[in-house]
Amino acid sequence: MEQPSAAAASRPPSFTSQTNALLRKNLIFQKRNRKGTIRLIIVPIYLCVILSVIQRVINNELDKPKYRCGCKCVDVNGTGSCQNVCGIQYSTLDQAASCPIPNPPKWPALVQVPLPEYRAVQDSSGLFTGLSDESCRKSQTCPASVPFTGANRTLSTSVMQNLFTSSPLSNLSDYTSISSLLLGTDVPGTSTGFIEPAFTSDRPLYVLQPQCISADSVTVPVTIGAVNAQKEIKCLQGLPLWRNSSATINKETFKGYRKGKTAEGINEIAIAYDFQDSNEKHFNVLALYNSTYQNVSYVPMPFGLLRISRSLNAVSNAYIQFLQGSSVKMLLDFTKEMPKQATRLTFDFSAVAGPLFFEWIVALLFPVMLTYLVYEKQHKLRTMMKMHGLGDGPYWIIYYMYFLILSTVYLILFVIFGSIIGLNFFKINDYSIQFVFFFSFINLQIVLSFLTATFFSKVNTAQAIAYLYIFGSGLMAGSLIRNFIEGGKFPRHWITVLEIIPAFSLYRGLYELGQYASRASETGNPGMRWSDLNDHTNGMRDVLIIIILEWLVLLPVAYYLDHASSVGHRPSSLSVLKRLLKKDPTRRRITVNGVADNDVQIEMEKPDISQERETVIQVLQQQSSSYAVVCDGLKKLYYGRDGNPDKFAVKGVSLALPNGECLGILGPNGAGKSSFISMMIGFVKPTSGNAFVQGFSIQNDMEKIYNSMGVCPQNDMLWETLTGREHLQFYGRLKSLSGSSLDIAVEESLRSVNLLHGGAADKQVKKYSGGMKRRLSVAISLIGDAKVVYMDEPSTGLDPASRKSLWNAVKQAKQDRAIILTTHSMEEAEALCDRLCIMVDGSLQCIGRPKELIARYGGYYVLTMTTTPEFEQDVENLVRKLSPSARKVYHLSGTQKYELPKQDTRIADVFMAVENFKKRVEVQAWGLADTTMEDVFVKVAKGAQSSEELS
Ligand SMILES: *[C@@H]1O[C@H](CO)[C@@H](O)[C@H](O)[C@H]1NC(C)=O
Ligand SMILES: *[C@@H]1O[C@H](CO)[C@@H](O)[C@H](O)[C@H]1NC(C)=O
Ligand SMILES: *[C@@H]1O[C@H](CO)[C@@H](O)[C@H](O)[C@H]1NC(C)=O
Ligand SMILES: *[C@@H]1O[C@H](CO)[C@@H](O)[C@H](O)[C@H]1NC(C)=O
Ligand SMILES: *[C@@H]1O[C@H](CO)[C@@H](O)[C@H](O)[C@H]1NC(C)=O
Repeated sequence: MEQPSAAAASRPPSFTSQTNALLRKNLIFQKRNRKGTIRLIIVPIYLCVILSVIQRVINNELDKPKYRCGCKCVDVNGTGSCQNVCGIQYSTLDQAASCPIPNPPKWPALVQVPLPEYRAVQDSSGLFTGLSDESCRKSQTCPASVPFTGANRTLSTSVMQNLFTSSPLSNLSDYTSISSLLLGTDVPGTSTGFIEPAFTSDRPLYVLQPQCISADSVTVPVTIGAVNAQKEIKCLQGLPLWRNSSATINKETFKGYRKGKTAEGINEIAIAYDFQDSNEKHFNVLALYNSTYQNVSYVPMPFGLLRISRSLNAVSNAYIQFLQGSSVKMLLDFTKEMPKQATRLTFDFSAVAGPLFFEWIVALLFPVMLTYLVYEKQHKLRTMMKMHGLGDGPYWIIYYMYFLILSTVYLILFVIFGSIIGLNFFKINDYSIQFVFFFSFINLQIVLSFLTATFFSKVNTAQAIAYLYIFGSGLMAGSLIRNFIEGGKFPRHWITVLEIIPAFSLYRGLYELGQYASRASETGNPGMRWSDLNDHTNGMRDVLIIIILEWLVLLPVAYYLDHASSVGHRPSSLSVLKRLLKKDPTRRRITVNGVADNDVQIEMEKPDISQERETVIQVLQQQSSSYAVVCDGLKKLYYGRDGNPDKFAVKGVSLALPNGECLGILGPNGAGKSSFISMMIGFVKPTSGNAFVQGFSIQNDMEKIYNSMGVCPQNDMLWETLTGREHLQFYGRLKSLSGSSLDIAVEESLRSVNLLHGGAADKQVKKYSGGMKRRLSVAISLIGDAKVVYMDEPSTGLDPASRKSLWNAVKQAKQDRAIILTTHSMEEAEALCDRLCIMVDGSLQCIGRPKELIARYGGYYVLTMTTTPEFEQDVENLVRKLSPSARKVYHLSGTQKYELPKQDTRIADVFMAVENFKKRVEVQAWGLADTTMEDVFVKVAKGAQSSEELS
């Protein structure tokens, strides 16, 4: 049912005026909060500085001569003046790594043999047969065993006999002749072939021979490249062992594995061959070797070179000699690494530690935004703004833009600063990629904070959980995602699935940027370019797609949940979710209950209440616009929880409130006043019935009602850091005031509630006393052109002076508004309200002008008399004589209170009788009073409760 004439009166505030109001409020809020903002911006700067300092220290350290290619002043031309020459020959081992190596040295190819203490010996398992016993380990003379097998044992054994050549070591003059021998080492290999560690370490080289004369060793000078050393060369017995199958060899090596620290049970073999079906026509060999002898402890590249080439060459040579005789040789003389440019030792710390740090920096905005949103929710400011006409649209746009600007500025500063102090992470990668990546992520993050905010109602909880989330997810991303990507074993598509979690996708993006940056500083490549997104190992493209898709999906979800939870019907989106998941089974039952309850109510109704109901029916039929508020059988049922029965807080209230009237609602605590107001201001939805404000239904058109409504809630809902004036300006702007009319209205309103005094208007609200906040709340409810104003106990906690000025303000405002106020102060009710109603247990007990009510429910004088207790009966007799129908209402140790009906009492008679009575009995005190509103209230409340108990 709409009343078109009334509807025209309330013009909704324009979108721009709402936006303008909110923007200005936020700017002020931000200005007050600038310390926090500065601190926020300092965090990335601080972290960048730390990163850069650490990077400088590392660079500085790596740039020291210790790590630079060694140089020496050499007399090159033999002229006596020396020239600085750099090169590997002048470098220490640490320096050598950065020297250019135009001509790498060649090294004799070696075979890998186990360390003496681990070489295989005889044991009780029956596997290691044909070996010497453990005693050889003490003297370090255990042989390097070489098990072999093959289809033709004769052939295999003959080939193996040529593997080790016998040549006395004393013959060895210098290392060049070593290549014709089978040389071995027990030192693990390195990642490059520039230096053969076997020649630089202290361990001896071995010559593998069929038989060794004990202590057969020589020391030869070795000069290769920069290495210039005396090298001990020892004889080592190479022991070929026939095994009747490849499976036996397998078992043997499996059993010999080095598991613990002690040499017990360890039996390592040097190498094993399986000749398979080899014969004179073809050679078919399979070599078993231990690849763990790579040097895995060398960190940047954990792959050492395997010494396998010489073992294969040796067995091939043995086969050729078996076919052609010992004069034919096929030897592998040397191996040689490829030449290399000069390099500088670098380590890009920001690229390695960066992703985690930067993830935290970016995610730090999340708790900040969340706090902002939840703060307004916790203090019900969002609802308050909504009740004063702020739509969800402008709210979202302003906050979204506001957060976007905040985040963008924050990140731009971060990137600029990072670039200025020279972090490769920012400098090297394409800025447009960084921009797109960061920008899309902060958009997602803003949506996430909107979404998350709907689940929280307390700032502290939200903050704690948000910080825990960003630190936890950062660490998790740092360990999980990094390991998964680098390990290469985790399926790629599962990594992509994991990246649906925003923290992980952020980390992945940062990780990729970091990888490109560190590769760039190692190899001089440019950083990430758009074309690199096509590289399938680069996760950036997936990350961007995931972020943007997620943003598209979550934006409407967040908007819906936020809308649903901001209406105020439900406290949080948890319950919205619950409501979505299951339909409330009690919903159906309520309507049934409602009808049943209705019938009972009508029978008990008093004449004034039923007349009000008549008026309501009439007004609704005529569609009269002179009534601002019309309530038609408004009911509210609260579902019983934890086994409690359902309770009707409001039981069918019907009211018609003309324009310019102030209606006071009185009632004891828990009478349903606040529930009634909550329904009227859209906090809760009525269970049944309806109300029309300015012709709009509160069931369907609440949004339109907000435009012409003012609310002074029971608890002050104010921003701590805004001043009173700023509050009024904000709400004034929301109500379409602007320019000088706004200033005038604000000034007026401040004066009316006595807040101009002593600069109170320009103090921040957190410095206000409770009374000042209360007065500000009333001023807010009255500012602008609110046609209907609700005030829930406006004057609680006010001193008498402020109360007076507040009353004046309300009285003044009353002229062109309808006001509904609840109060516990009868004085206030009588002073302000044109009509009063008393509400008990959810239903109206009476309604009318204060004088009428007093006349109706009063109609008696109250006589109070205090005597000593033994004269109580005399007092009673006196009263009965004055008025036989007097009622005793109060009695306590000598003090008695009687109600004397006005029609059979004359005041003069009472005075005379008491004067006479005082001559006989000692009267301590006495008084005669007319009925007050308070008496009416007590009486009505009591009467209603006792009739409730009777029924
Ligand atoms: C095994 O090899 C030897 C030597 O080459 C050859 O004489 C003999 O015929 C081979 N045996 C078989 C069964 O092929
Ligand atoms: C060892 O020395 C002897 C004589 O000095 C020489 O005849 C022989 O060829 C040498 N053997 C090797 C393998 O160099
Ligand atoms: C392998 O040879 C051993 C004797 O050296 C023998 O006891 C064993 O049965 C043989 N195993 C196979 C599978 O031929
Ligand atoms: C292979 O070498 C590693 C050490 O380099 C050792 O721990 C392991 O036991 C060896 N395995 C076998 C089967 O000898
Ligand atoms: C592995 O290589 C590193 C660096 O080259 C070296 O310091 C370390 O001693 C090597 N480890 C072994 C077991 O040889």
